[in-house]
Amino acid sequence: MSVSKPLAHDTAPLHVNGAARYVDDIPLPANAVHLAFGWSPIARGEFTALDLSQVKAADGVITVLTANDLPGENDTSPSAHDEPLLSTGALHFKGQPIFIVAATSHHAARRAAKLAKIEVNETDPILTIEAALAANSRFEDGPVIWSKGDSDRALAKSKNELSGSLPFGGQEHFYLEGQAAAALPGENGDVLVHSSTQHPTEIQHKVAHALNIPMNAVRVEVRRMGGGFGGKESQGNALAVACAVVATKLNRPAKMRYDRDDDMIITGKRHDGRIDYRVGYDENGLITGLEFEHYIRCGWSQDLSLPVADRAMLHSDNAYHLKDVKITSHRLKTNTQSATAYRGFGGPQGMIGIERVMDEIAFALGIDPLAVRRANFYADAPTKPRQTTPYGMTVEDGIINALVEKLANSAEYDERRKSVAKWNAENPILKRGLALTPVKFGISFTLTHLNQAGALVHVYQDGSIHLNHGGTEMGQGLFQKVAQVAASRFGVDVSNIKITATDTAKVPNTSATAASSGSDLNGMAVQAACDTIKGRIASFLANQFGVKAATVKFANGLVSAGGETMPFAKAAQRAYEARVSLSATGFYKTPKIRWDRVRGQGRPFLYFAYGASISEVLIDRLTGENRILRTDILHDCGTSLNPALDRGQIEGGFVQGAGWVSMEELVWDDKGDLKTHAPSTYKIPACSDRPMVFNVDLWQGENREDTVYRSKAVGEPPFMLGLSVLAALSDAVAACGDGTVYPNLDAPATPEAILRAVTGQENT
Ligand code: MTE
Ligand code: MOS
Repeated sequence: MSVSKPLAHDTAPLHVNGAARYVDDIPLPANAVHLAFGWSPIARGEFTALDLSQVKAADGVITVLTANDLPGENDTSPSAHDEPLLSTGALHFKGQPIFIVAATSHHAARRAAKLAKIEVNETDPILTIEAALAANSRFEDGPVIWSKGDSDRALAKSKNELSGSLPFGGQEHFYLEGQAAAALPGENGDVLVHSSTQHPTEIQHKVAHALNIPMNAVRVEVRRMGGGFGGKESQGNALAVACAVVATKLNRPAKMRYDRDDDMIITGKRHDGRIDYRVGYDENGLITGLEFEHYIRCGWSQDLSLPVADRAMLHSDNAYHLKDVKITSHRLKTNTQSATAYRGFGGPQGMIGIERVMDEIAFALGIDPLAVRRANFYADAPTKPRQTTPYGMTVEDGIINALVEKLANSAEYDERRKSVAKWNAENPILKRGLALTPVKFGISFTLTHLNQAGALVHVYQDGSIHLNHGGTEMGQGLFQKVAQVAASRFGVDVSNIKITATDTAKVPNTSATAASSGSDLNGMAVQAACDTIKGRIASFLANQFGVKAATVKFANGLVSAGGETMPFAKAAQRAYEARVSLSATGFYKTPKIRWDRVRGQGRPFLYFAYGASISEVLIDRLTGENRILRTDILHDCGTSLNPALDRGQIEGGFVQGAGWVSMEELVWDDKGDLKTHAPSTYKIPACSDRPMVFNVDLWQGENREDTVYRSKAVGEPPFMLGLSVLAALSDAVAACGDGTVYPNLDAPATPEAILRAVTGQENT
């Protein structure tokens, strides 16, 4: 059976030799035009006059469009209709599109866009958390508050109490393929859009509204993305809509791609923010009361900020059982890029708070941070008495104690704790740090209706199989995994399955490929479609041979019925000749989930994915430079659909998470100008930054819930394994002091931040 085999990504060879086609590689007719945005030079205010004469006169320019030229709705928002494609006057961030240039080449369009004369009225921008709070600049009327028990009373009764504050940075997605779209006008106002998007249906929807045509007149196709990481859930809307508008207006194909700098200046990133905490605990480090206050910087428009901030709240317990807890979340509106989905979708921002709390309690008590974590873990299943999350969901699938036990043993945590202490006692300049952090991540979209998927499968008369579903491929290996599911259902080799581009004309009304649920949802939908066809072939053969359909077997490329065995192709041929339909759709919706977002109560997730990592780091106290010496990971994928691809997700997720907390730094000046808009100033992890020793293992155990082949989602959870790097760096900084003052090492712990924290330790 093809499921569970460590097969390579289906297009790995094409990625390597350059033959994999991305949007920008699709050949367009010779009369295609290329687009660029001209954008706001200020972070807040309005434009009072727009002189585009030089833009229009520039070499290669074909046409220039402003908001007045749009045929339909001027909106690219995925949520609140607060995001005009082109500004009508009000300016909300530096980089906000004001006009579109269509030219004969990409460079001509970009060059011309710079020639606009824009007169503006500038207002002081709201950039910081403090400024937003002072101006009460926020989404929703006030903070969202969810609680369990009585944190006030519990804190008053606690033996010990501490409080603190942890600022954390945002993160640029840095997908290798930037945002891109192309639109081809069809007959009678129809349009075909190619988009680098995680959400083809959303593109279809926004394009239909922008052109004032029904969704059935718009077809969106996505073969693959060169990475999305959440940055292509909503941020591709503007390009696709711009292309569709220009293409229909000129009746010529139109293409737009953001240059890297444009991409970083225009598109939203991970939400940055701050967590304030107040925690009560006993002498063993057991938490007896906890309050978190989240301040989330959302940028200028709502985008996906509300569900992101919700998910941060939903992960503020991480793997720890809290009895009396209150979480308050402020969603602040600032004059910066509209922060958006990014791997973990708020989960990392929630978890970073409680991991800091664990470390600070351990420091205050002078005990090993792992002991504090263990004192607070949810119990392993079967759990009696019942334990619930702060939002009232029963944790039924706990494995964190066993998983951490196994990892701590294999990575020799206790021995290494001693050798780190010995090293630090002997070395005055280079200091080591060690930390273990767990992950418990909830799987399902919190917007319940998004938890559905569709598939379309055809078996041709030669036995070859055509596979389509609503999920999109962004490098994570979804298509390969789902093809393995299809191959397993028909008992054929995966080479018989043709993986095809996601297409809104084949599978309608899809959800974004997001929330790590791509294989859970689409895998099940494909399984259903395959089983429908298989069932028809089986009953047809059973009829012919006078046996029961259940006795017809599909395995090893063969079909056996009533003592006769034939190749799958022969069975397909016979079924076709007997006029049996060999094409079927499949559908799946996640069972059991229900969620009341206003009360913050319910079961938003079908299950949890677990993992843990141990990182050992080295810092130079004189420069703040640092290295990850070794990381050991044990991660839970249930019964893995493909252990090779899952390992890739775990390694990549960890490195990206470690980059977030230790390296990647976004800097805006006091005018709201993003200063880090290229790899020259924004540092993402390189190969050389990965742990020097990197041991990754998969936890053996099936999903308790009835998911596709009992697998678990793996796309986002490993990102949060990167938190062990921040904890280990903090541990190393603490080794520079005398143990009296906790080092407030903020994220990202860049060399500068580490040096500042070390200086803080030396001055105690
Ligand atoms: N892996 C690669 N290589 N590229 C990506 O863009 N996106 C991540 C994760 N892994 C991403 C990735 C994010 S944010 C999500 S939600 C999941 O993949 C989406 O895919 P899945 O649901 O199929 O896991
Ligand atoms: Mo992933 S942030 O849910 O696209």
